[in-house]
Amino acid sequence: MTTALRPDRPPQDLRERAVAALTAARARTAALTDAVTDEDLTAQHSPLMSPLVWDLAHIGNMEELWLLRKVAGRASMRPEIDPLYDAFEHPRSERPKLPLLGPAEARRYAAEVRGRVVDLLERTPLEGTALLDSAFAFGMIAQHEQQHDETMLITHQLRRGAPVLTAPDPDPPAGPAPAVPEVLVPGGPFMMGTSAEPWSLDNERPAHSRETAAFWIDTVPVTNGAYQAFIADGGYRDERWWAPEGWEQIHRHGIEAPLFWHREAGQWLRRRFGVTEPVPDEEPVLHVSWYEADAYARWAGRRLPTEAEWEKAARFDPATGRSTRYPWGDADPTPVHANLGQRHLRPAAAGSYPAGASPLGVRQLIGDVWEWTASDFLPYPGFRAFPYREYSEVFFGPEHKVLRGGSFAVDPVACRGTFRNWDLPVRRQIFSGFRTARDL
Ligand code: AVJ
Ligand code: FE
Repeated sequence: MTTALRPDRPPQDLRERAVAALTAARARTAALTDAVTDEDLTAQHSPLMSPLVWDLAHIGNMEELWLLRKVAGRASMRPEIDPLYDAFEHPRSERPKLPLLGPAEARRYAAEVRGRVVDLLERTPLEGTALLDSAFAFGMIAQHEQQHDETMLITHQLRRGAPVLTAPDPDPPAGPAPAVPEVLVPGGPFMMGTSAEPWSLDNERPAHSRETAAFWIDTVPVTNGAYQAFIADGGYRDERWWAPEGWEQIHRHGIEAPLFWHREAGQWLRRRFGVTEPVPDEEPVLHVSWYEADAYARWAGRRLPTEAEWEKAARFDPATGRSTRYPWGDADPTPVHANLGQRHLRPAAAGSYPAGASPLGVRQLIGDVWEWTASDFLPYPGFRAFPYREYSEVFFGPEHKVLRGGSFAVDPVACRGTFRNWDLPVRRQIFSGFRTARDL
């Protein structure tokens, strides 16, 4: 699949964007891996996650595979390590037992690959193949590294022990709170997905017309305060609200609240990157499974939005009938639009980022928390796997649910109105929250 070269993105600009995106990703990777000891880097902090040192060398190995081997046609630098870092060869829980590169070696390997890649990028014409057009493969690799930077932040959150990461808290909301709790999105067709975004990944393509009925959607994500009302009302003890598999999961694991929450002297506390603190009522709820989101919505007399509804709320401009790249328009995200990129290590209060609102006034669709949708992860009509089936295609089907919008932990390079994330409905270590919807 060839990505269209946007007229506003001349090749030189794309080259600079690619170097900047790769450099920014590496700075984040370094911050996340330099923050802990070598012992911590090689330890497994949860069976759900790889040791951080695996992510580090895997980042380098994917970069070598796609940019040095596939694009530049070079031979493998270290053929003996390639199988260790193929995510499909070894499940996460088994990775600590592999003969992985140690911290110093992994850092050296990733840096060596990067040196060669920057060299290649400076000398390669960005045209002629689907991987080179618009610097796609370089953009894909920058996104891949940033996705693992989010994964590594999840590992940090699961890690026990003294805090090692710090970041300033988000500012309180700039300007007045939203005037209404929900917004009416009109029925009719809109353009979903993209064929124009140069670094969009295969599952976001192609753009296609999608019809929705009119629906109401929450102006902001569901907050901790609202979620506590569900808990206090016995929501976790009332089978009526739960999908059967969700009901089974909360009983098997004794789940009574979002992950990382516990109750002490009548108050909900949470552990966040090694610090225990009161759960802030005004913040979007975080670390809930799809089943918890679905149960809350049913308790509230509402439902999760479908993926198409979410994207229409985020991209459809009723004034023009067009779909924009982001809720606020076509401009790349800045700190006034959204809480992205690990600038803060928590979501911002609900009602923040008025400058990031959609034309209809829906806020915080981008950033803060990944939002569970009602939808299974399925291909769009006309989908073609590119450049590898294992990015999206092998995950299509009813077992994965779609999440949209990105969290505080994901970089803008890997987040846009069309970006699709997915996970198993039981997962709650991810930076997941939700908003609700209802029929007209
Ligand atoms: C798109 C976040 C589900 O982490 O499994 C990283 C991204 N793919 N390496 C994942 C990914 C290959 C993927 N998610
Ligand atoms: Fe990966």
